[in-house]
Amino acid sequence: MRTTFPWRLVKFVSAAALLALPLLFALSGWTESEDPFLPSLLPAEDYRLISPQSYRLLLDQPHACRDRSPVLVLLVPVAPRDAAARRAVRATWGSAGADTLTLFFAGVPAGEDQGSLLQEESRRHADIIQMDFVDSYQNLTIKTLMMMNWVATRCPDASYAMKVDADIFVNVFYLLELLRTFPRTGYITGSVIRDGRPRRNPDSKWYLSEEQYPEDYFPPYVSGAGYVFSADLARRISWASGFVRAIPMEDVYVGLCLRVLGVRPVYSRSLLGLRNLFEIRSLEYERCSFARRVIVNGFQPAELQEVWRDFSRGHSSC
Ligand SMILES: *[C@@H]1O[C@H](CO)[C@@H](O)[C@H](O)[C@H]1NC(C)=O
Repeated sequence: MRTTFPWRLVKFVSAAALLALPLLFALSGWTESEDPFLPSLLPAEDYRLISPQSYRLLLDQPHACRDRSPVLVLLVPVAPRDAAARRAVRATWGSAGADTLTLFFAGVPAGEDQGSLLQEESRRHADIIQMDFVDSYQNLTIKTLMMMNWVATRCPDASYAMKVDADIFVNVFYLLELLRTFPRTGYITGSVIRDGRPRRNPDSKWYLSEEQYPEDYFPPYVSGAGYVFSADLARRISWASGFVRAIPMEDVYVGLCLRVLGVRPVYSRSLLGLRNLFEIRSLEYERCSFARRVIVNGFQPAELQEVWRDFSRGHSSC
């Protein structure tokens, strides 16, 4: 018996495919961003490790934003034992005015228990939030997601947030001025690192195995010392973390979440591009040069207070 192979059908289908191809290309160009990236959901146990839902709040400030919507929430990760750093922040940029709200975020110390000291400090200042994960360098990614989740749920009407370390000089006066020019949504700015690569040397502090991070490059990300973002990103980054496996570099991690969201971090530079407004090196104090920067890195608590005494009085005459 002679089988009749459906050549006519094959011809028809190929012709249709040929015609459809350009259309498909056009459509994909239309819908995809410049940097196509298709995320997939994390396995449940990977997500459980980083999700704030997995941990218990030991200290909270649930009403910090009840009667007010701060323009800027300053989110400061600290270890429970960093009482001196918290004191310095409270005495300086942490209490710079009615438009800002400053909060400290801690985990629990791996060794000795400092719970009662922290409770006492929290009662006095009402500015500490603590969750029951182990407070360690590797767990800063968990802490970052805890801060994002806190802003998204406890302070949903804030306009902007800033993640900033406690050993940083923050020129809140200049920052509040700049915020008026920033987009209200989908915006994150700081010192952008575009050519970051994972260290493959196991001796490095920043070692990442290929299993942990298979790609050769990091997407652009803002240096974790201090970065500012429109508050809507707190919720969106929390959402994106459902697609991004934890790595122990919290700033790169935020960059990976931004890639999922299709949000590009913006480099904050002075008008001619000469000055990085988020200075991640440490610089010799000079009042009028600090007046034109948002952050400067590398301050011990006593130093910060000393510099602030001069700066807060003199910056407006620069
Ligand atoms: C991170 O926190 C989790 C939850 O508390 C803990 O099991 C884990 O040991 C911590 N990792 C490090 C490296 O401290």
